[in-house]
Amino acid sequence: MSTLPQTHPLLDGRTASSPLVRAYRGERGSTTPVWFMRQAGRSLPEYRSLREGVAMLDSCLDPAMASEITLQPVRRHGVDAAIFFSDIVIPLRLAGVDVEIVPGRGPVLGRPVRTAADVARLRELTLEPEALEPIRQGIAATVAELGSTPLIGFAGAPFTLAAYLVEGGPSKDHLGARAMMHADPDSWRDLMEWAADISAAFLRAQILAGASAGQLFDSWAGSLSPTDYGTSVQWASARALAAVADLGAPLVHFGVGTGEILAAMRDAGADVVGVDWRTTLEEASRRLGGDTPVQGNLDPALLSAPWPVLESAVLAVLKSGRAAPSHVFNLGHGVPPDTDPDVLTRIVALVHEAGGDSA
Ligand code: CP3
Repeated sequence: MSTLPQTHPLLDGRTASSPLVRAYRGERGSTTPVWFMRQAGRSLPEYRSLREGVAMLDSCLDPAMASEITLQPVRRHGVDAAIFFSDIVIPLRLAGVDVEIVPGRGPVLGRPVRTAADVARLRELTLEPEALEPIRQGIAATVAELGSTPLIGFAGAPFTLAAYLVEGGPSKDHLGARAMMHADPDSWRDLMEWAADISAAFLRAQILAGASAGQLFDSWAGSLSPTDYGTSVQWASARALAAVADLGAPLVHFGVGTGEILAAMRDAGADVVGVDWRTTLEEASRRLGGDTPVQGNLDPALLSAPWPVLESAVLAVLKSGRAAPSHVFNLGHGVPPDTDPDVLTRIVALVHEAGGDSA
C-alpha cells in the first residue's frame, strides 16, 4: 500500500481519477490524456519574460518562479498534466556538484568525473534532505493551484546523469561514459550507484510533496547496446525506481532512441513506457507484450508542418496507441524552443476531440 500522506492529491480524491492517472494505471477512458515534454520553456513568451536575467538553475530553485513556470502551459494549452519545472541536474547542484546550464548548449560541469579518484571524490557528496526544501516548496505551491490536474515529478536516470558527469557537458555519443563502463567497471558501478541514489532522492521528494506520478528520463540510453544496457545500466535505474515504488504513484520510464530496450526499461520497474518517434506505438506495444501503457510519440519535427499534415500525424499516433491497454499522448521528445505555442494548444484540442475509448 501507498506510504503517501492522506492529504496527498493521489489519496484525497483530487487526482486518482484524473484521465492521466487512470491511463498511467492502464485504464482507457473517454478521452486520451495529453501533455508535452518540455511544455514549460522557451516556446512560451510568458516564460521568456519571467526568466529574463535569471539563470536557468536559479529559476528552478526559486519556488514561486518554478511554480509559476510549471503552471503556464497548463493555463495556456489545457494539457492533462503539469510537469514540475526543474532540471535533471538540479539534484547534482544540490549535492554540491559544480554544474551550470549554458543556454543553447545544456549542462556543463566545472570538473568532469573521469578517473577512479574523481568517482571516489564525487561519492563523498551527499544530497541532504534540507537541500531539497526549495523543491518541496515549489511542488506544494504548484499542487495548491492545480486542483484536479496531476503534477508529474521527474528525475534523470543514472546513465543520463553519468553521461553528463563523465563527459563534463553535452556530447553526441557519450563515448566517455560508455568507455568507463568497460575500462573501469568498479568505478562505473560506484558512479551509477551514487547517481541512482541522487536521482531517487530528487524523485521521492517531489512525489511526497504532492506529485501524482514520476517520470525517469533516460534521454541518452539509446546510445547503449541492449547488452550493455542490461548488464551495466538497467540495475541502477531499477534501484532508483525501487526507492520510490512504495509511494504507489505511477512511474514512467522514457528514453530517446530506446526502441531496442523498451521491455528492459519496463522491467526496471516502470508502470508506463515512454516511446520516441522512431518506433510506432503499435510496434512498441508488441515489444512490450501488449499489457503495458505507453506514452508518446509524435515527432517534434512535425510541429512546424502545415496543419493538415500535422493533424493526420496526430491521428495516426492516436490510432497506433490503441494497440496498448492505454495511451498518454505526448511528443517523442521535448518541444523545440521555436515552436508556435498555438500549435500545441490546437493539438490538445484535437486529441481531446478525437476521444479515447471510442476513437
Ligand atoms: O516542461 C518540462 O518538461 C519540465 C522541465 C524540464 C527541463 N529540463 C527544463 C529545462 C525537464 C523535464 C528537463 C529534463 C532534462 N534536462 C532532460 C531530460 C529530458 C530531455 O529533454 O531529454 C535533459 C537531458 C536535461 C538537460 C538539459 N537541460 C538540456 C539538454 C538543456 C537544453 C539546453 C538549451 O538551452 O537548449 C537544459 C536546459 C533546460 N531545462 C531548459 C529548460 C526549459 C532550457 C533553458 C532555458 O530556457 O534557458
